[in-house]
Amino acid sequence: MYRTHTCGELNIGHVGQVVTLSGWVQRSRDLGGMTFVDLRDRYGITQLAFNMETNAALCEQARKLGREFVVQATGKVIERASKNTKIATGEIEIEVSELNILNEAKTPPFTIEDNSDGGDDIRMKYRYLDIRRNPVRQNLELRHCMAMLTRNYLSNLNFLEIETPMLIKSTPEGARDFVVPSRMNPGEFYALPQSPQQYKQLLMVAGMDRYFQIVRCFRDEDLRADRQPEFTQIDCEMSFVEQEDVLNTFEGLLKHLFKEEKGMEFGDFPRMTWHDAMKYYGSDKPDIRFGMKFVELNDVAKGKGFGLFDGADLVVGINAEGCAEYTRKQLDALTDFVKRPQVGAGGMVYIKYNADGSFKSSVDKFYTPEDLKAIADKFGAKPGDLMLILCGPAMKTRVQLCALRLEMGSQLGLRNPNEYAPLWVIDFPLLEWDDETQRFYAMHHPFTAPKPEDESLLDDPSRWGEIRANAYDIVLNGTEIGGGSIRIHDRNVQNKMFHMLGFTDESAYAQFGFLMDAFTYGAPPHAGLAFGFDRLCSLFGGVDTIRDFIAFPKNNSGRDVMSGSPSPIAQEQLDELFLDIRPINK
Ligand code: AMO
Repeated sequence: MYRTHTCGELNIGHVGQVVTLSGWVQRSRDLGGMTFVDLRDRYGITQLAFNMETNAALCEQARKLGREFVVQATGKVIERASKNTKIATGEIEIEVSELNILNEAKTPPFTIEDNSDGGDDIRMKYRYLDIRRNPVRQNLELRHCMAMLTRNYLSNLNFLEIETPMLIKSTPEGARDFVVPSRMNPGEFYALPQSPQQYKQLLMVAGMDRYFQIVRCFRDEDLRADRQPEFTQIDCEMSFVEQEDVLNTFEGLLKHLFKEEKGMEFGDFPRMTWHDAMKYYGSDKPDIRFGMKFVELNDVAKGKGFGLFDGADLVVGINAEGCAEYTRKQLDALTDFVKRPQVGAGGMVYIKYNADGSFKSSVDKFYTPEDLKAIADKFGAKPGDLMLILCGPAMKTRVQLCALRLEMGSQLGLRNPNEYAPLWVIDFPLLEWDDETQRFYAMHHPFTAPKPEDESLLDDPSRWGEIRANAYDIVLNGTEIGGGSIRIHDRNVQNKMFHMLGFTDESAYAQFGFLMDAFTYGAPPHAGLAFGFDRLCSLFGGVDTIRDFIAFPKNNSGRDVMSGSPSPIAQEQLDELFLDIRPINK
């Protein structure tokens, strides 16, 4: 028997028992007469004690143990002379009588402790060592718990977990597909699913009524902290439901996760239309942990001779409460921030509402104190506040101001990762115009239903941009953690949708024929949603990067630096797949 207990479970109640433990050597300390070894496994750390006086040979053996050696130790549980209150096993130690080296280990390339000395790259290359560290291991434990809670919750609501294929048909909508060549069908390719969207809709046609799947999805898109090329969704679909049913069901799931995992309770999640989210926060995923809502100033800021404002489509700002004391240097830094290419503003106007009631602004030349007071009133500002204002084309300026708002929120410590502010964003536009290709794209996907009250606009191309969708996103702390929609189950509406997206009848049928055919055999009204599971876990863990919650993630260039993928394949493999690769200049 390798062990009688784990390294995390022994306590004062076990004193006197003879036990056997197995694990990794975290570190050893040689104090002359005594040698102590910290033995680690997934469950914790237990101190092994070796006494030079009572067993010199064993003590000598212990002194030679290297870091990360795998050992088995047998001995008596004794009460420690100096206790460590920081760990669960800190009151006891093992007086070792037998020691077995199960496997030696090379010195690891970084220290396997909570605060490692290893940089990102080296830890990713040796991810299996990184996972031995508590913070990474705890992240994976959290992920496991979230998955179990989700499965049980949904199963109790009659959802069935059903697997859908990983090798599917490539479709041009959405992000770029990862494709897989088919050896048996030369010149043809499968795609890896960007999501099981069409299959889950087919399961509704198949009468499964309530489906879910914790499922891997693949998207060949540029990577960011909250994006991986392969990621996991909690993917769900329901029949005979309206938007209200879907929102309530999945709000329920999120509340359940918060309660069980974090002991937090929430009332009804706020709901905001996409239109309001853009108008007041410049984002379809507003971080509502803090205020600083946008205030539009066209009526009070224009017409005073300041050309930049006068000529702008929109003048809009935020009020940073209590920030009137910001120095020149701080204001310059904010101006530099908005002028960075990633934000792209031309500049920033500030108005300080000083504690004594006077004003100091970067546009004093154009505005009298009365004018500035009128602007301050519009903001609802009080003495001591700082107003920051941008101007330009409406949507662009809002997006720029969103970046500034988030920056101010961070600077003022208003974005506490342990505070949670979920909300629904609803009534997204159905279509999005793309200047480059001069066509509309589905904002969510081509199977999303328009709001019934906007359906008449489908026949008026000049108003397609105004059509609202029965689509919703769930947002947590400024991150989109999920999204979904009511699906089109009416063949006519679906045809119109394809038409709006620039498909001919033939090209739509070539892409989506199997789904369109299925819909002729009795498709129930249905709707669904998918959570980004990695994002959800990382937010619950209070971290921005989803990589920390994935056992073996890819780096920002989409590489697995541990296994060295992607990699070239042998000519024979290429030949077998009828693939002719052009020489690549790297
Ligand atoms: P959507 O494309 O909005 O919807 O994806 C759902 C959620 O998945 C997460 N997500 C990602 N997470 C990590 N890395 C990525 N590259 C990535 N891309 C998306 C986000 C997002 O909210 N089939 C629809 C859902 C539906 O309509 O039911 C879909 O896939 O958190």
